Amino acid sequence: MPEEEKRSGPVYGTTAEPCSVILFGASGDLAKRKVIPAMYDLAQHDSLGERYAIVGFARTPMTDESFRATIGEAAKTISEVGPIDPAKWKEFSSNLYYSAGEYGDLNSFLQLAKRLAEIDKEKKLGGNRLFYLSTPPEVYPDIVAQLGRAGLAKPSNPNSWVRIIIEKPFGRDLASARELNKIVLDVFEEKQVYRIDHYLGKDTVQNLLVLRFGNGIFEPLWNRNYVDHVQITTAETLGVERRGGFYETTGALRDMIQSHVLQLTSLTAVEPPASFDATAVRNEKLKILQSIRPYNLEMVAQSAVRGQYAARTVDGGKLAGYRDEPGVNPNSRTETFVAMKVLIDNWRWAGVPFYLRTGKRLAKRTTEIMIQFRCAPHIVFREREVEPNRLVLNIQPDEGISVSFGAKRPGTEMSIGNVTMNFSYREAFGGATRSAYATLLNDCLRGDATLFDRGDSVEAAWSIVDPILDVWSAARTGTVPVYPAGTWGPKESDQLLERDDRQWYNY
Ligand code: BG6
Repeated sequence: MPEEEKRSGPVYGTTAEPCSVILFGASGDLAKRKVIPAMYDLAQHDSLGERYAIVGFARTPMTDESFRATIGEAAKTISEVGPIDPAKWKEFSSNLYYSAGEYGDLNSFLQLAKRLAEIDKEKKLGGNRLFYLSTPPEVYPDIVAQLGRAGLAKPSNPNSWVRIIIEKPFGRDLASARELNKIVLDVFEEKQVYRIDHYLGKDTVQNLLVLRFGNGIFEPLWNRNYVDHVQITTAETLGVERRGGFYETTGALRDMIQSHVLQLTSLTAVEPPASFDATAVRNEKLKILQSIRPYNLEMVAQSAVRGQYAARTVDGGKLAGYRDEPGVNPNSRTETFVAMKVLIDNWRWAGVPFYLRTGKRLAKRTTEIMIQFRCAPHIVFREREVEPNRLVLNIQPDEGISVSFGAKRPGTEMSIGNVTMNFSYREAFGGATRSAYATLLNDCLRGDATLFDRGDSVEAAWSIVDPILDVWSAARTGTVPVYPAGTWGPKESDQLLERDDRQWYNY
């Protein structure tokens, strides 16, 4: 690849129209760590346009100046977009405003409406507005209802737009997701609603579609005739850190499987869409979720495994167990690990198991999709045991793709060794990074919902995990298997694959 192309770094989308972005939960961690830094990143690449305003809304009383100072301090220390340039930050932060209020109080929203109208007029923003819900999910219904009552949910003129981004978790089971969809769609139209899953903003996740549908050589193999099974792993080495309270009522099935892992599953399995637009792509993804065989009681017992990390001493240091973490009940039964087998009942995938797993405090931080192909039907060499071919898509942190195959070892003997061919994102395109949030905000500001979830697919994903949630929450007496912190999960996870004569790919 020419050096010039490598150095050019990430490609940013076209400039957005003038608009204001109203950030609910502006003093929270997500806003400081991800959302505001992503806006700064977009502004530096001229993706925000000349005129824009970011209006923080939260309960803490603050002036515009103190909001700018607090966010500026946070950006320097916890921003995930790399070093902040003080001069550029100064310019950017002059577009930050703040409005304090209660989420359930109409007056606070009427005040917000007044403030927005003033800013709009002063900066000539044309009435375009993006509301971003980055608060705890309990207050989503209040915010949505008040936006409706304050007259903020509809565009103020025929040429302007109003959109809303809603963070995950979207509900905590199928019933509450349906309820939330109803509340949101009573006030907004579906085309205004952008349900965010930050995994879809990762380049390597989008590259799944490019790999499959932008190349001629993979797609012919991408089906039950050639694929033996698929493994999707989202492993973290960190524990629950400071989020014990949140995690206690969530668990790995809700936190990761229902969202990120099922997104990766549907993109791996999806049929080619007719075009790369929001309706076509999302229709195809929905069909995959709807084709996943529903779990029944027996399948939960046989094909779904949970686990919880226990304390372990490593190199003289001690990794705390989940039950010792701050905010966690010492008798907690919340799962920090899930492994499950999923069957997709359609023509392409019938009989090909997808093994999914996720967990905190595992042996390695990695998110990867491993596609294992069927072995050659007949081996003519003396060496009968030949490793199957594997295609590994490394989503993070060593972004890249590798293919493994057998090669003749040098020498007089006809002996086969397993080798890999690697593509590294960093080597090919340079190391420049851009946050997933920047991509998704950029898309939303341009009205492109392709990488956001639709109401029906959020519900479809909940219907997949709901039966497992039911059994696990009802089985009060059943034990939750434990695994030592820093390992690959409980032995039951290995047994899940061993029963099918397979094993996890742990490299
Ligand atoms: C979040 C989960 O959605 O994704 C966290 O709530 C998890 O528990 C995080 O740690 C993982 O995201 P990433 O981008 O670091 O893989």
